[in-house]
Amino acid sequence: MTVIKKTFVVSALLFSAATFAQDNKVLNLYSSRHYQTDEALYANFTKQTGIKVNRIEAGEDALLERIRNEGERSPADVLVTVDAGRLWRAQQLGFFQPVKSALLDARIPASYREPGGQWFGFSLRARVIAYNKARVKAAEIPTYESLAEPKWQGRVCMRSSTNIYNLSLMGAMIDHLGEAKAEQWARGVKANLAREPKGGDTDQLKSVAAGECDVTISNQYYYARLLRSAKPEERGIGEKIGVLFPNQADRGTHVNISGAGVMKNAPNREAAVKFLEYLAGDEAQRYFAEGNNEWPVVAGVKPDNPVLKMLGEFRQDSLNVAVLGRNQPGSQKIYDRVAWK
Ligand SMILES: [Fe+2]
Repeated sequence: MTVIKKTFVVSALLFSAATFAQDNKVLNLYSSRHYQTDEALYANFTKQTGIKVNRIEAGEDALLERIRNEGERSPADVLVTVDAGRLWRAQQLGFFQPVKSALLDARIPASYREPGGQWFGFSLRARVIAYNKARVKAAEIPTYESLAEPKWQGRVCMRSSTNIYNLSLMGAMIDHLGEAKAEQWARGVKANLAREPKGGDTDQLKSVAAGECDVTISNQYYYARLLRSAKPEERGIGEKIGVLFPNQADRGTHVNISGAGVMKNAPNREAAVKFLEYLAGDEAQRYFAEGNNEWPVVAGVKPDNPVLKMLGEFRQDSLNVAVLGRNQPGSQKIYDRVAWK
């Protein structure tokens, strides 16, 4: 048996734009996601349609930069990336073309897609409150707003405000509370910080488990990764942490998406639309979401994930995720005004 080592990233880079666009049997996919379920996800698309998927994978911001540099000659057909705030940035850069698809409109709830069809959400993540189980009871902290209460002084860890997840969360706070109250909230949370904002979501969770602080905010999949880790020490960290869905008694928990759009100059537009429609299918939904411990967006497709099952169902904020992008400049201004860092 021959073992073929997959070097798709490097080999894809060597293709010329002409090779990419020769017929409609290829799809050039630029993605910032890379998970174990990808092989099955893309292989099934090729099996169903005969369209080969050329993947270019890079970090979120590197990918946007690359597309910008390629300009009109970009071979990209589809951009897959995370967070509505980042898809909104790509939209502002003029990367996408609108897609009208009765299938996508029927399958993807309206709040998880850009109203003009510029981009669509394919999996869902929630920004949950995580707490140290030995020191905090879930009932003490039912809302994002509670994080600003004086009782949490010196007990909150948060990441930087330039992070897209926090910008999008603030975008939702602005919509629900208005700018003045959203700023008051940011000021309150900032006053409660146990340390300067630093690190990623996993670092916040580690700080909570280590007792450096008692509560934080994180996307649920970082928590799931810890609990499902092959390393006992990481599972140990996860086991010290409790997770709750904030604002269940009112507007619901802030949710965001991983999503995709068809590029404005897509050489293989038809294949690109087919791919988005494929991602909205039941099986693809499971692969796409499961790769990162996220929830499928399509109603009725249940995640087969032990941590998500344990967390259970929850009330989601019904705000259209495009608002998170639209509020992004205002969000950054608020964080800057309160010197969040
Ligand atoms: Fe993330």
